[in-house]
Amino acid sequence: MTILQSTQHGVLTLTLQRPEKKNALSSVMYQALTAALQQAEQDPDVRVVVLRGQPDCFCSGNDLADFVAAGALNAEHPTVMFLHALSHFQKPVVAAVAGLAIGIGTTALLHCDLVYAAPGCRFQLPFTALGLCPEAASSLLLPKLVGYQKAAQYLLLGEAFDTNEAHRMGLVNDVVAAEELFAYAEQKALKLAALPSEAVIQSKKLLRAPQQQLVQQVLHQELAVFEHLLHTDACQQALTQFFARNKG
Ligand code: COA
Repeated sequence: MTILQSTQHGVLTLTLQRPEKKNALSSVMYQALTAALQQAEQDPDVRVVVLRGQPDCFCSGNDLADFVAAGALNAEHPTVMFLHALSHFQKPVVAAVAGLAIGIGTTALLHCDLVYAAPGCRFQLPFTALGLCPEAASSLLLPKLVGYQKAAQYLLLGEAFDTNEAHRMGLVNDVVAAEELFAYAEQKALKLAALPSEAVIQSKKLLRAPQQQLVQQVLHQELAVFEHLLHTDACQQALTQFFARNKG
């Protein structure tokens, strides 16, 4: 089981559990996450979702092998279905990040409502080095958060940033000692779950409404470019190199 689920006091906790692959998200994991979000949306007993990984690793991004094998990036692709579910999810999502947050491990946070992180995390968007482009509407949401030049540093150069930087830019709400991170995120989730749920849902809707349409539009534009780039020599070479490096 690579996604653990537990519900307590209105909080559904989804834990990425694939430590041997640094929580790289496989198709099966995307499908499980999507199903969990869809179910949570309908379930009145779930008021808040917590997304977390292991104490030393949040997520190393798309499983590069699986992602390519899953075929065309259409509405049925597991990654696309997950992005659709997360970006439309009406209840609040609280993320607890420790260790690595690479690729979608960072871009997914732009769709969470509250993000808590342990010191010393590594956030990185290495799309161009892989011959790819931004996803999850990060080409819209990141510049909005940090300004154009900083976004270019992270999305064009692919430079990593740490928890302090993520906190400064507003991607992370609070920096929390590693040993307290999950309890802290849970406590914030419980606080949200104790509030009148209709008020929370409507408030989230209002916060997101001004850019929801644009987010969806950009998300789909990015996917079209991403799909094109996936088939370029540069991308194929980068993927081959990654897997060769890990075999050698
Ligand atoms: N997709 C598929 N497999 C991945 C992966 C990913 N995104 N990230 C890590 N893995 C696998 C490695 O292939 C390795 O598998 P193996 O033990 O069978 O060889 C295992 O996870 C451990 O990774 P490793 O590279 O040995 O660990 P590390 O601590 O040296 O480095 C990372 C961790 C995450 C920095 C490095 O694995 C990496 O750069 N991964 C790619 C991240 C990425 O580009 N994500 C964005 C995708 S759009």
